[in-house]
Amino acid sequence: MKILVTGGAGYIGSHTCVELLQAGHEVVIADNFYNADRAVPSRIEKVAGKPVTAVYPIDVADKAALNQVFDEHQIDGVIHFAGLKAVGESVQIPLRYYRNNLDTTLTLLEVMEAHGCNKFVFSSSATVYGPNNKAPFTEDMPTSATNPYGWTKVMIEQILRDYCAAKPAFSAVLLRYFNPIGAHPSGLLGDDPNGIPNNLMPYVARVAAGQLPKLTVFGDDYDTPDGTCLRDYLHVVDLAKGHLSALEYANEHTGAEAFNLGTGNGTSVLELIHAFMKENHIDVPYVIGPRRDGDLPGFWANADKANRVLGWKAELDVNDMCRDAWTFIQTPKD
Ligand code: WQD
Repeated sequence: MKILVTGGAGYIGSHTCVELLQAGHEVVIADNFYNADRAVPSRIEKVAGKPVTAVYPIDVADKAALNQVFDEHQIDGVIHFAGLKAVGESVQIPLRYYRNNLDTTLTLLEVMEAHGCNKFVFSSSATVYGPNNKAPFTEDMPTSATNPYGWTKVMIEQILRDYCAAKPAFSAVLLRYFNPIGAHPSGLLGDDPNGIPNNLMPYVARVAAGQLPKLTVFGDDYDTPDGTCLRDYLHVVDLAKGHLSALEYANEHTGAEAFNLGTGNGTSVLELIHAFMKENHIDVPYVIGPRRDGDLPGFWANADKANRVLGWKAELDVNDMCRDAWTFIQTPKD
C-alpha cells in the first residue's frame, strides 16, 4: 500500500515510517517540520534501507498543498500524526491547539473524500480517558479531558465516529497511546524535542549525557507504592508496529474502532530513573520537587483488545526503552 504519513518526520511518525517501509509499503511524508529535524526523512531511509517515495514540507491544513499530494500519488491509506501535543502549552494557547489539530484533521478528511481514500489511522492518546476513569483503562470507558490538547483528541475521535456513521465505506482506527519512550536501536531515530523537554525520558537522557544538570521529580507524595506517579511506558518501536497492525485492520474493516496501545504495566518515575541508571551504568542526578499541575497519580492500559483483535502486544520492556534512549542521545546523527 502507498501510505501518507502526516507528521512522518516526528518522533512516533518516523519510527512508524521505518516499520511501514520494512513491511514493504510505500511511504509519502507530509510534515511542516515545526517540531522535527529536516534530516529525519534521510535517517528513516538509512535505518529502513529503503527510499521514502516523497516528502512534502507542508502544513496539512493547507488544502491546496494537500490536494497536490493526492493528485500526485494514489494514496491507499493515511496515518495521521501531525498535530500539536504539549499539554501545558495547550493551556497557554488553546486557540492555536484547536485550530491546528482540528483543521489538519478536517482538511485531511475532506481531501481524502475527494480522492476516494477511506483508510485512516489516528494518533490518539490515553489522555482521552481523563481524570475520572480507574486504571487499567479500557476502550469502552467514557472520554473527557482536562486540557485543550486532550480535548482536541476527544473531539477528533468524535468527528471520526460521526464521519464513519455517514460514510459506511470509511475505516478509522483510533490508537490511544500511553507513554511512548525509547528510540530505534540504531540510535538514528528518537525523541529529540526542541528546547527543554517536557517529558520524563528525554529529560533523563539529557541529564545522563550532561546536557542538563539534574532532573526534578515532580512530587513523591502521591498515593502510589513509592510516592511517585505511575505511567504505562511503551517502547516507540512497539508502538510503531502497532500502527502496521492498525493499518491491516483498517484494510479489512469499516467503521471507527479505538484501541489502547500500552504494556498494561504501571512504572513509577523513580523506578524508571533507577532502571535507566542500572541498564546504562550511569548516574542521573535528581531532586524531589513539587507536584506538576495536572499530573494524575497513576494510569496504565488494559491492552487486551489490541492483542485480541489486532494481534498486537508490546514485546520490549523498560530496560530496552532505557537502553535505546541512551544509545540515541549518544549516537552522532549525520
Ligand atoms: C511522566 C511522569 C511527571 C518530567 C504526557 C502527556 C500525554 C502524552 C505523553 C501526548 C509524570 C514525571 C516528568 C520531569 C518528572 N503526550 N516527570 N520530571 O505527563 O504522563 O504524559 O506525555 O499524547 O498526553 O500528558 O508524560 O513524561 O511528561 O511525565 O517527574 O522533568 O514523569 O510528573 O509523573 P505524561 P511525562
